Amino acid sequence: MAKIITMYKQEKAETLQKPRAAVKKPVPKKAVTESAKGEKPAVKKRSGSLNSPRKDTVKTVELPKTTQTVRSTDVRTAEMPRATDRTSSTNSAVSLPNQTNLDQNIEMQKNDYKIINMEQVRANPEFRALISAANSNLEVMGYNEHGLRHVGYVSKTTGNILRELGFDNRTIELGAIAGFIHDIGNAINRTHHGPVGAAIAYDILARMKMNPTEITQIIGAIGNHEEQTGWPVGPISSALIIADKSDAHRSRVGRKTTDDLHGRVNMAIKKNYITVDKVKKVIRLFIFMDTQISATMEFLQIYITRMAMCEKAAYRLGCSFELIINKTVINRQGGPPSSVTLDASERNVSEESNGIAD
Ligand SMILES: [Fe+2]
Ligand SMILES: [Fe+2]
Repeated sequence: MAKIITMYKQEKAETLQKPRAAVKKPVPKKAVTESAKGEKPAVKKRSGSLNSPRKDTVKTVELPKTTQTVRSTDVRTAEMPRATDRTSSTNSAVSLPNQTNLDQNIEMQKNDYKIINMEQVRANPEFRALISAANSNLEVMGYNEHGLRHVGYVSKTTGNILRELGFDNRTIELGAIAGFIHDIGNAINRTHHGPVGAAIAYDILARMKMNPTEITQIIGAIGNHEEQTGWPVGPISSALIIADKSDAHRSRVGRKTTDDLHGRVNMAIKKNYITVDKVKKVIRLFIFMDTQISATMEFLQIYITRMAMCEKAAYRLGCSFELIINKTVINRQGGPPSSVTLDASERNVSEESNGIAD
């Protein structure tokens, strides 16, 4: 054991006496240069075999005075301007508009806007093609007529409601325009045809140079006229909703069939019209229907959500809405009466059930 310890000590002493290997100092990297004119520095070809020492690579390249030196890590970014360079080059290449320029542009655009009237919209070939396609698509799917007769009715009735309630002439005309193009989204698809039609209408009306503020009133009305997703967002929107939902009539039944519920209900409606009482602030929808063809209950099955939307729309116009079918008021505005008293001859036949069969 003592021998082993002696050998270990001797070996350790020898190790400590060995001189340490010299630590090589890092050779400073030579500058990679790029001339200001984009000239590449001359690169000397290596001589000898691949195993021969690279003595030639450590030679310094003579730099012209105009050469800009960058670090090797900057080679990738050398082509891009530095922060200071970028600022100066950006300012010289692109001039950002100042407030004066913006104001001038807005003023020029204002001068470029035009008053687009109903006749121009009616004559526009894009709108006419869209209305025709919408009607054709819906006819294939079995819907009622949505062509020029329907949009013409909605256009005129929307304008008339607004006129009767005292709105200005331009609002009346915008309402008529919105009514005329409210269903163009059906040219693409029945689902969401309101918002889709609004987007199409914006594009066309903007190209016709209509004022964007006026366009927003029209697209708001178009995009909100369907009961699934719509809401009476303004006077034009409200008047259009009432006009559109009131157009239920046997003349709209394309196939003249009573096989389905929609066809039967519409075929039963012989006459319909809207009245506006601007003093009492009441909008009334009168429906006269042949109950031998379809019952009032069937009308409500289809139109109940549309009539509820009409109530909201009338409220937005500062009015109440009454639905009158065959001279009977179907809905009651202003809420239910505070108490119900039965006549002497009446009797309440409903009875609470205790859940046990008698
Ligand atoms: Fe519609
Ligand atoms: Fe419609």
